[in-house]
Amino acid sequence: MKKITIQDIKNLKHSDSPFATLTAYDFLTAQILDQAEIPLILVGDSASMTVYGYNTTIPISMEEMLLVIKAVCRGTLSSLVVADMPFLSYQPSIDDTIKNAGRLIKEGGAQAVKLEGGEHIKSNIRALVKHGIPVLGHVGLMPQSVNQTSGYKLQGKTDKEAEKIILDAQAVEDAGAFGIVLECIPETLATIITKELSIPTIGIGSGNTCDGQIQVFHDVVGLSKNSPPKHAKQYSRLYDTILDVVKKYQTDIKNS
Ligand code: KIV
Repeated sequence: MKKITIQDIKNLKHSDSPFATLTAYDFLTAQILDQAEIPLILVGDSASMTVYGYNTTIPISMEEMLLVIKAVCRGTLSSLVVADMPFLSYQPSIDDTIKNAGRLIKEGGAQAVKLEGGEHIKSNIRALVKHGIPVLGHVGLMPQSVNQTSGYKLQGKTDKEAEKIILDAQAVEDAGAFGIVLECIPETLATIITKELSIPTIGIGSGNTCDGQIQVFHDVVGLSKNSPPKHAKQYSRLYDTILDVVKKYQTDIKNS
């Protein structure tokens, strides 16, 4: 099976229909997404909540990210694996950025990394690309900044905010990123950015006009106790299905 390359993802900008991507955090899920020919799998720092049970993406460490990245890479033959850089693994310095991104690629086995931010991390992205590490950008709502933004809200509602997000997206492209995630911005703004950039935009909670879409796997399959965010269509309630199976098993054992 042919491994999807960065160029393949860039080419998706020009495809007739939007492409679907998802997160994964373990071997089995990676195998399923790979078999379904999902071109890009993100090992998101949302693993902080979905896998490790923290309240936000802030606490997850490099070591915790590396464990899930390795498992996903073992289950992936074809899909391109992008690993999220955890909070404070790139913000302090360019040296930290290269060293930590290098670990996600070299030890973890991912083919690319994702960083949150625009103009203020342009030099970090540029340095990674210069050292041969492909970067997926991420602007709009940036969950690692949840304390600063006082919650998970739609970003870019005012003209001033929208202007800043456009500049951030341009900075990410200028720095050499191969694609960019647009999280929770108005569809009109996502449309402008998608038209202006030559790299693919991947939307989440940003309407239907991006080149591709991404969702958290657990939200789409209903694998958590809580309801998913409004923008995530839930195709099944696996949490309830599994609970039911476990209860039936328990009853069978008790009655045997
Ligand atoms: O961590 C994550 O899962 C993300 C998303 C874009 C879904 O960053």
